[in-house]
Formats: sequence, C-alpha cells, structure tokens
Amino acid sequence: MTLAPEADESELRAVFEATIERHDRIEPRDWMPEAYRKTVIRQVAQHAHSEIIGMQPEGNWITRAPSLRRKAILLAKVQDEAGHGLYLYSACETLGVSRLELTEMLINGKQKYSSIFNYPTLSYADVGTIGWLVDGAAICNQVPLCRTSYGPYGRSMIRICKEESFHQRQGYELLATMMRGTDEQREMVQESVNRFWWPALMMFGPPDDDSPNTAQSMAWGIKRNTNDDLRQRMVDMTVPQAKALGVTLPDPELRWNEERQSHDFGSPDWDEFKDVITGNGPCNTQRIAHRRRAHEDGAWVREAAMAFAARGAEA
Ligand SMILES: [Fe+2]
Ligand SMILES: [Fe+2]
Repeated sequence: MTLAPEADESELRAVFEATIERHDRIEPRDWMPEAYRKTVIRQVAQHAHSEIIGMQPEGNWITRAPSLRRKAILLAKVQDEAGHGLYLYSACETLGVSRLELTEMLINGKQKYSSIFNYPTLSYADVGTIGWLVDGAAICNQVPLCRTSYGPYGRSMIRICKEESFHQRQGYELLATMMRGTDEQREMVQESVNRFWWPALMMFGPPDDDSPNTAQSMAWGIKRNTNDDLRQRMVDMTVPQAKALGVTLPDPELRWNEERQSHDFGSPDWDEFKDVITGNGPCNTQRIAHRRRAHEDGAWVREAAMAFAARGAEA
C-alpha cells in the first residue's frame, strides 16, 4: 500500500465527510479514517459474536423442547442466529480482518459480546422471554442500524431485522400460550420475565453520560440513536405487550408520564452490568469455554477445506 501525500489525504477526507453528511453509505473500497474503520470493526465484530454466543442459552433447550412444533421453531431460530453471525463476520471481513482473527479475539476475551448471553436459561419459559424481550431489544437496536453509514453492515441488518421480528413473535406466542395454561405455567413465565427484564434493558449499553464512544459513532453515522433513546423505545414498546400477556414488569418505578408521552422507569443495576461485561457474569466462563471447544473441534474441517482448495489451485 502506498501512502497518499498529505494533500490527497485531505481531499479523500473531504469526500468521506461529504458522504457521511449526505447520510450515504461508505463502501469497502472507499477511503475512510483509520479510527472509523476500527470503530466499525469493533461494533460489527461485537454484534457477530453476540449472534454466535447467543445460540448457546437457547440451544440448551433444543433437546428438551415440549413438542415437535416447539422444537422446529427453536431449531429454526437458533439456526437463524448462526446465519446472522455469518453475514456479520462477512461484513467485518470487508474491512480487512479475517473471520479467524475475529474468532480468536472472541475466545481470547479481546472482543466482547452482548452481556445478556451471560445469563443462564433455567426453564422453557426463558425461550419465550428471550424471543420477546431479547430479540425485541435487538430489533429496537437494529432497525435504525439498517441506515448505518457502513454499507455492508447496513445491508446485512435489513435481512437480519426481518428474521428478528419472527424471533420476537415466536417468543411472544410461546409466552401467550403458557399464560393461557396452568397456574404453574403462568408462574414460570412471570419468574422468567422477572429475571430477564433488567438484563434486557442493559442490552442498550450504559447511560448516555457514561458512554464514551456514542458521540463519535453518532457523528460518523455508525450509530443513529443514543443508548438511552433506544432503551426508552424498548420500554414504551414492551409495556402494552406485557399488559396483553398478563405479566408484570419488575419495576416499581414504571409509570406513564403524560407530559413526556412516554414511560418513566427505574435504573438498571449498572454495577451488575459492569461486572458482567468484565467477565464476571453467571455464565461468562462457560460461554467462552464452549465456543473455544467448538472452534477446536472444527479445526479438522478448516484444515480439510484448505487442503482441498490448495489441491484445486494446483490442478
Ligand atoms: Fe440475531
Ligand atoms: Fe434473534
């Protein structure tokens, strides 16, 4: 790679900035500031890792699904998450980092994934709650990302969002079915919602005044909304759904604010959040150990594929 002389770089920078200004897309071959490239890699990698690690808590229930129908739904959902991970790793590779490097950064703890997947799944109601609340939060986060400034990321989001809305609906439908069932089933749902509500709200990241990267990411059009803005949307979207289901959201401060035309709500436990993202959540060690084992178990497949490709190149 040759380094462009100073004047050229300022021209390239002006083109980049004008593209961002127009809310247009930056494409893989376009010039971009190094810090932009790094920020997009970090965000897309973290997103890809979340999709892949997110397969574990629900995959845990595939062999114990209560019916063939539920098993088919759950299998399809978990497979979708694998697909999301793959689109996102591919989007990330357009920025000059390989999927192998990304996987290694995940299993060495150098890159993160969503804190939500470090919580255990303790009952089948959790499959429903994850679909309803966790995929619901993912939708709030990802719909605005369809307009993110990096082209391959935004385009992958469009397809992912369609699948996420199926995920959210299957979760809601499972919970609605259980709520029409026995007292024991209703208790299972409420207990599950009590455990997942706050971690789901934490998925939007720390409060805006404690989120050092937000301003730059918004200026570059990578992020389109702040964490607190998205969290508010999630609460406003979920409250009527909880009412329709007949479950209580475990927040005594939750109430409608007529003036703001929005709900007021309590603050998640940010100390717990920090603890979980720094590796001390209930399942961090287990999730990474499982991912590392799967990577090692798959080594022979990668080696065989490389040998096959090399032989094809020789022929
Ligand atoms: Fe997903
Ligand atoms: Fe999903």
